[in-house]
Amino acid sequence: MKIINPSYSYIDGEFKQNIAIAFSEKIEAIDTLETLQEKYPEAKLIETKENTVLYPGFINTHVHLEFSANKTTLQYGEFMPWLDSVIANREELVGQCDNSVMKEACNEMMASGVTTFGAISSFGTELEVCMETPQKVLFFNELIGSNAATADMLYGDFLERLDASKKCGHGVIPAIAIHSPYSVHPIVLKRAVEVAKSEKLPLSAHFLESQAERQWLEESQGDFLEFFQKFFSTSMAVTTIDEFMKSFDNVPTHFTHAVQATKEELSYLAKHGHSIAHCPRSNRLLGCGRLPVEELIELDMPFTLATDGLSSNNSLNIFDELRAALMLHHLGALEKLANLLIKNITSTPAKIFNLNSGEIKVGKDADFALITLPDAVQNTQSIALQTILHTNKVERVYIDGEERVNL
Ligand code: BEZ
Ligand code: FE2
Repeated sequence: MKIINPSYSYIDGEFKQNIAIAFSEKIEAIDTLETLQEKYPEAKLIETKENTVLYPGFINTHVHLEFSANKTTLQYGEFMPWLDSVIANREELVGQCDNSVMKEACNEMMASGVTTFGAISSFGTELEVCMETPQKVLFFNELIGSNAATADMLYGDFLERLDASKKCGHGVIPAIAIHSPYSVHPIVLKRAVEVAKSEKLPLSAHFLESQAERQWLEESQGDFLEFFQKFFSTSMAVTTIDEFMKSFDNVPTHFTHAVQATKEELSYLAKHGHSIAHCPRSNRLLGCGRLPVEELIELDMPFTLATDGLSSNNSLNIFDELRAALMLHHLGALEKLANLLIKNITSTPAKIFNLNSGEIKVGKDADFALITLPDAVQNTQSIALQTILHTNKVERVYIDGEERVNL
């Protein structure tokens, strides 16, 4: 048993003082330090500095580890030139992305307090690293393939990868990702959604990321026309926005991006119990626009904050992402937004994916991110904001009660 006594603890969305936490693998008790030391006289007291804040471990719901080798290779600014550059450089980038590159990506996340992440896996090449990292991983096996002639073969490959991720056991949670409305044939899409439903697997899908995607799905026109003619000899989208959304009616799904979704579409998704993964830096770098988070808030729609992969970002540090989101969404009150963003990387993703983490509460996994503020705060209301502004690395990370990295 260990006891930690930080200056502040993030509990029920508030920053509580004079609270200590006793934990083993799970959080055992939350009380004053004196009471806990009396109750657990053998427990080891963890030394903490002044102005420390204990958060539940952070959850980054959407990352592509397989593209972690990219730094300056891919073309940023607009979606289609970026996608073309991915196709042109994919083999080289994936080839360069060995286990050590992916481990470094996991470490970068961990140094920013991420104790759980959602890995979107195209090929399954990061499975070994995901088994080895102390972090918990939602392993999203991605289904791709819009061409009817090859869809069955690609679906078979997807099922094999899904099976492999089911055999990993502790720490790797098998899950399903649908690549996107434009790249997955509706027949195999329905099969995969059925698997997610019957096996109760987490489900995610890229959705309405770019204006080009919207135009292709609505009119079979725009930037995607040339792309599909060139690579797939087709001039017709395989689905519509409505048909795609309806395929998920009975299975709560985490839709990534949704930057180009209308308020009506967001409202439809919200009514069906879905949620959104918001990747502000990726959206900016690929010229996709700004997700109107104020509409999500109005709809009471849960959303998470995620980094996406290094194929569309310059770091996997969750604090960099929090700062970008804070600066981008200038319409709402600053401290309110800061508090919401912290929720979006803790309790909200934990609820969406039914994880026993994301909250400092008795019985939850003892996953923590301990940060130190550079100075005292005048007002506890400002702690989320000051944390986001001033933190680059956490002081310590605990996963299942174990200190995991020497940062
Ligand atoms: C497809 O399989 O249809 C596809 C794959 C990658 C990008 C776009 C489409
Ligand atoms: Fe993505």
